[in-house]
Amino acid sequence: MSKIPRHVSIIMDGNGRWARQRGLERLEGHKAGVESVRAATEFAAENGIGFLSLFAFSEENWMRPESEIMGLMELMVGAIIGETSTLMENNIIFKVIGDKSRLSAGLNEKIDEIERKSSVNTGLTMIIFLSYSGKWDILQAAVKYAEMVKSGELSLDEPVSSDFFASLLSTAGIPDPDLLIRTSGEQRISNYMLWQSAYTEFYFTDVLWPDFRKNDFRMALETYSARERRYGKTRDQINNSI
Ligand code: IPE
Ligand code: IPE
Ligand code: MG
Repeated sequence: MSKIPRHVSIIMDGNGRWARQRGLERLEGHKAGVESVRAATEFAAENGIGFLSLFAFSEENWMRPESEIMGLMELMVGAIIGETSTLMENNIIFKVIGDKSRLSAGLNEKIDEIERKSSVNTGLTMIIFLSYSGKWDILQAAVKYAEMVKSGELSLDEPVSSDFFASLLSTAGIPDPDLLIRTSGEQRISNYMLWQSAYTEFYFTDVLWPDFRKNDFRMALETYSARERRYGKTRDQINNSI
């Protein structure tokens, strides 16, 4: 693999279908997906990927049945507690991005603790998007911007740059994803990183998330390697700049 992306993001989809195929409850699919998270994280660390972000729960997912939401949240708390030592041993920086005000106090506490602990690490940055949506992110940035204007910190006479606006997004300091993988055959963005994926390469696979393993990740990276990212320029311009 010649080109290793700096930031890979995954929309982890298909847990429900995986469970249904086996005659199991949906929650069993979510539980099985934890092993795939482990495999993907190991693969990212082994291959020198700097940032691995995982879409775990969307703003829209709050509309799911209460029992599934409760089960998922318990699973997250359990996984965070259970994986803390592994994350520390593997030098992984752990972050959660999303509307944390909708998460329980208990979950917020666990998240704060592991974010604080792992902030001394220097290896892979693993980001879990929880209670997140792209529109929520852009709106909260716009509100921050408006507040800065209101307080006089910023003037509307100054032009607003895209870099400045990006610094108000919840992903400030994290490079935009180079590669976005979505499992389970769905080919949509589902209100994920709308601003940040402006020039992201997309890779869709039919593999259901609980079945996703290192080899599936490798295939995505191989496809990515063969892509030519032009950012609006011509092929000649790109080739001449290398
Ligand atoms: C992804 O799997 C996990 C979450 C969205 C929380 P799904 O639960 O969406 O699985 P399908 O799409 O129903 O198969
Ligand atoms: C999107 O999955 C978000 C996550 C994977 C967490 P969904 O399965 O909820 O997406 P839609 O609603 O089918 O597009
Ligand atoms: Mg789904």
